[in-house]
Amino acid sequence: MKHPVLKGKRGIIFGALDEQSIAWQVALAAKDAGAHFTLTNAPVALRMGKTHELAGLCHTIVIPADATSTEDLETLFRQSMVYLDGSIDFVLHAVGMSPNVRKKKSYTDLDYNFFQKTIDISALSLHKVLQTAWQLDALSESASVVALTYIAAQRSFPGYGDMADAKAALESIARNFGYYYGSRKKVRINTVSQSPTRTTAGNGIQGFDTFFSYADQVAPLGNASAASCADFCVLLFSDYTRMITMQNIYHDGGFSSAGMPSGLQDQ
Ligand code: NAI
Repeated sequence: MKHPVLKGKRGIIFGALDEQSIAWQVALAAKDAGAHFTLTNAPVALRMGKTHELAGLCHTIVIPADATSTEDLETLFRQSMVYLDGSIDFVLHAVGMSPNVRKKKSYTDLDYNFFQKTIDISALSLHKVLQTAWQLDALSESASVVALTYIAAQRSFPGYGDMADAKAALESIARNFGYYYGSRKKVRINTVSQSPTRTTAGNGIQGFDTFFSYADQVAPLGNASAASCADFCVLLFSDYTRMITMQNIYHDGGFSSAGMPSGLQDQ
């Protein structure tokens, strides 16, 4: 165990599909930090991915839930509270999918049924998670909710398609729900804006390699890995960040503040 900063804390981790998933790394880091948590993913992802393998490594259970279904989410919270024997101290929302991106539909030729799915899965799902928790009173005092996002919410990155709009909505939901949950129970809600990362979701973006290497060159620290993102999420789940809420925090090696690729001046 590195630092047991999550000792005694109970959590729910969404979105671990395989070893590359950011959520996979978060689960391992949270376990290392002393947390107990349940894992969840969409039923179809559970059939294709390796979430059950991760559950074995973390000595926990997997509770299937489509993050767009409030019924599934209610079951998830109820079963998690029974299994973990108490209310929930942290939640990781690492859920994202765009059928338009998957089908390589350009931003100027979107399928609007797909667009609604993108928004439902990648943004509204955070509201549904929070509203379900709110109505069940499932989160503890000062609990921490973290959702993963990308800088395409602020700047345009061709190829990211309608996921950019979904991320903008996701960040807005975190801010707005953060107000209500903070006032009610001191619950913190933040988004972490992560560097391009080689995962199933990441690799689905058109021109991902260009995104990845451009960001890696511009960021003075280079791209942040999934493992370093996981460490940061653990910090956000911990009591050390109990006064941080309603923020979008860049975890990107400095990319968002850098004006030119590092080393360009020397050239
Ligand atoms: P991933 O593909 O490993 O994880 C995405 C997860 O979303 C999968 O586990 C998938 O099963 C789950 N999911 C999709 N539809 C769902 C549904 N209806 N209900 C429940 N779960 C569902 O990829 P990654 O990259 O680890 O993605 C996690 C989060 O990180 C996403 O929000 C993604 O947008 C975000 N992110 C990823 C970056 C990257 O470059 N990979 C950069 C910045 C943010």
